[in-house]
Amino acid sequence: MQTRQLGRTGPTVSALGLGAMGMSDMYGPSDRSESLATVHAALDAGVTLIDTGDFYGSGHNEMLLAEALKDVSRDRYELSVKFGALRGPDGQFVGYDSRPDAMKNYLTMSLRRLQVDYLDVYRPSRLDPNVPIEDTIGAIGEMVKAGYVRHIGLSEVGVDTIRKAAATHAISDLQIEYSVISRGIEAAILPACRELGIGVTAYGVLARGLISGHWSKDRTAAGRDLRAFSPRFVGENLDHNLGIAETLGRLADDKGVTTAQLAIAWVAAQGQDIIPLVGARKRERLTEALGSLGVTLTADDLAAIEAAIPKGAAQGDRYPTALMAHLDSEK
Ligand SMILES: NC(=O)c1ccc[n+]([C@@H]2O[C@H](COP(=O)([O-])OP(=O)(O)OC[C@H]3O[C@@H](n4cnc5c(N)ncnc54)[C@H](OP(=O)(O)O)[C@@H]3O)[C@@H](O)[C@H]2O)c1
Repeated sequence: MQTRQLGRTGPTVSALGLGAMGMSDMYGPSDRSESLATVHAALDAGVTLIDTGDFYGSGHNEMLLAEALKDVSRDRYELSVKFGALRGPDGQFVGYDSRPDAMKNYLTMSLRRLQVDYLDVYRPSRLDPNVPIEDTIGAIGEMVKAGYVRHIGLSEVGVDTIRKAAATHAISDLQIEYSVISRGIEAAILPACRELGIGVTAYGVLARGLISGHWSKDRTAAGRDLRAFSPRFVGENLDHNLGIAETLGRLADDKGVTTAQLAIAWVAAQGQDIIPLVGARKRERLTEALGSLGVTLTADDLAAIEAAIPKGAAQGDRYPTALMAHLDSEK
């Protein structure tokens, strides 16, 4: 397994991370035993970075991971955990809470649910508008000193917040959406991370399946699948965006790889400081994603992708309007 370091101060992790969210939440039903098998298959393949959040299935995802990891030596994986998003019993998002004392409480619960003594990276899932980021990061810094957390990360925040956080404590990485059709970070956020020695764990590298080659107009997102409400997955936006996926698919064919592999390889090719997270919840998808590690994109390949899918090619915001409003990274 190739490795990459999370920023100047973070841990060295597998060059591909496994995001566990879809095993508990957001993308409709998932199969528990297949999820567990997928985590084991990832570890067997050398994946060490596993990403979760205490609000993914409101604790379900952490307990699932605890079961998957119970017989695995703690030094074989790094856990990246988000906190701060608040959800009601019906699953609705009801706000954010990144107050220092609340964070300590959430951290304690995460350690208990995951059945571990420490987390490798701990991060607020969004900027809490009511709490200065310095207060949140300073308090996580106390947890680093106490040994409960090894590194501090950020998620979906903009340049001002990144700078304030980095002035408070070393930050290993920013977790943020980045793909060939979600390139908002390139203008200011990625340069700021590079200046400050902060790595990027990129999520949504397949735009939540939209540019994976496995999404089609017939595959309707149902029930609690976030994609049922996601602007990119509906109406004429979906037609347009599936056209982009087809274009990517043709470029992938030329290269002898799958659409998903090309999409993941494109993100990985944007810099050694970027680690793609993939949301595989089935072994078959994981195997495909791992195949991206063997894909080398030349300057000509990258230029061909750029020409065919220029910046801003996608139609529709990457989140529903109400959730876009919570993204400090979009302000
Ligand atoms: N910080 C944040 O705000 C934030 C937000 C979202 C996610 N995340 C983290 O990032 C991780 C990845 O994000 P994501 O799941 O939205 O991104 P993604 O990898 O772009 O999308 C995952 C979806 O793509 C589909 N897919 C098709 N082919 C695939 C393949 N070969 N490998 C993997 N998936 C394939 C899967 O659908 P099927 O399973 O239905 O086939 C899966 O539901 C999450 O698990 C979570 O840990 C963080």
